Amino acid sequence: MQSLDDLLATGVAGKRVLVRSDLNVPLKDGVIGDDGRIKASIPTLRALASAGARVVVTAHLGRPKGTVDPAYSLAPVAARLGELLGKPVAFASDVVGYSAQETVASLKDGEIALLENVRFEAAETSKDDAERGAFADKLASLADAFVDDAFGAVHRKHASVYDVAERLPHYAGGLVLAELTVLRKLTTDTDRPYAVVLGGAKVSDKLGVIANLLGSVDRLLIGGGMAYTFLKAQGHEVGKSLLEADQLDVVRGFLAEAEKRGVDLVLPVDILAADDFSPTANVVIVPATEIPADREGLDIGPQSRELFASKLADAKTVFWNGPMGVFEFDAFAGGTLAVAEALTKVDGLTVVGGGDSAAAVRKLGFSDDQFGHISTGGGASLEYLEGKQLPGITILES
Ligand code: 3PG
Repeated sequence: MQSLDDLLATGVAGKRVLVRSDLNVPLKDGVIGDDGRIKASIPTLRALASAGARVVVTAHLGRPKGTVDPAYSLAPVAARLGELLGKPVAFASDVVGYSAQETVASLKDGEIALLENVRFEAAETSKDDAERGAFADKLASLADAFVDDAFGAVHRKHASVYDVAERLPHYAGGLVLAELTVLRKLTTDTDRPYAVVLGGAKVSDKLGVIANLLGSVDRLLIGGGMAYTFLKAQGHEVGKSLLEADQLDVVRGFLAEAEKRGVDLVLPVDILAADDFSPTANVVIVPATEIPADREGLDIGPQSRELFASKLADAKTVFWNGPMGVFEFDAFAGGTLAVAEALTKVDGLTVVGGGDSAAAVRKLGFSDDQFGHISTGGGASLEYLEGKQLPGITILES
């Protein structure tokens, strides 16, 4: 795989370099909730601009489904990018149209432009190779070389991730390389004990990764909404908590497999059970085996927090993806906070996987340097740990 350094070594002054960044940040009414991904994209852009390249950045925001929707415009991101870079970022109001062509043509050496949300073009995410290819031709015509720095999107076979790399000399950006280096430590010669904490709403989103992790971890801690399907699979009633009834057999299989392989699969032992999905709900702490029929679990309880922390205390490697409860409501943020705190005390490699988990730890007041690594890719890091081929990486290796 050729890297950004290889490209820089060729001399990039005056060359147009298309960079795919992951600038998919939480954005509401034009206000950016967490700019972690924008910050993470800076080093590669700065390295290219400093070397005199004309840098053309392409990125997505949300899932606008191939239509132009101002709510998903990257304009606020261009402004924030400029602030963080300390220099203006030109913004093209389309992806490959007149504005994009004009903007790129006006770039001087060392300047940076951001193209409008690449997902405003339906072809970007098309399943049809020819349709994606035709769009990738246009994108590629804006540049002389391609750098993929969008680790968070490497699991997508999209035109700006995959097809454009087929059309231009292609290089892995510093962020992609850094992410891969850390993820390799989770799959090869991993320091043990190796513990993984999984949370989030749905077990169905994580079937592949759980199946794969059962072959490699020492401890698997399950919290968040997905824990209730595990508790139900063990025969306990979960009241009105999130439940994926169609996954019960699969989850029973996981429980059996964990036992067979000697994996310590840890579930919550107590729950904050609420009478309503609301920040001001009435809450009782109940054993995880006795959730009342008229209540729903919205966070793991105090004993579970202690239990989870104790399972992480002597770990040498920890990967965490997904909140333990509805952390967006202060009353149900305690479990997620406790796991984040436990990670900060680990004497070993700690990896926070994913856009949502990364945003959660920052929202809860932690700083990035309290963890070994905060991944910019949620889906991408899970698919990596699942052992899947990531199209964006495969094409960079070709
Ligand atoms: C992410 O948020 O995980 C990446 O930016 C990819 O976004 P997507 O899941 O909409 O493809």
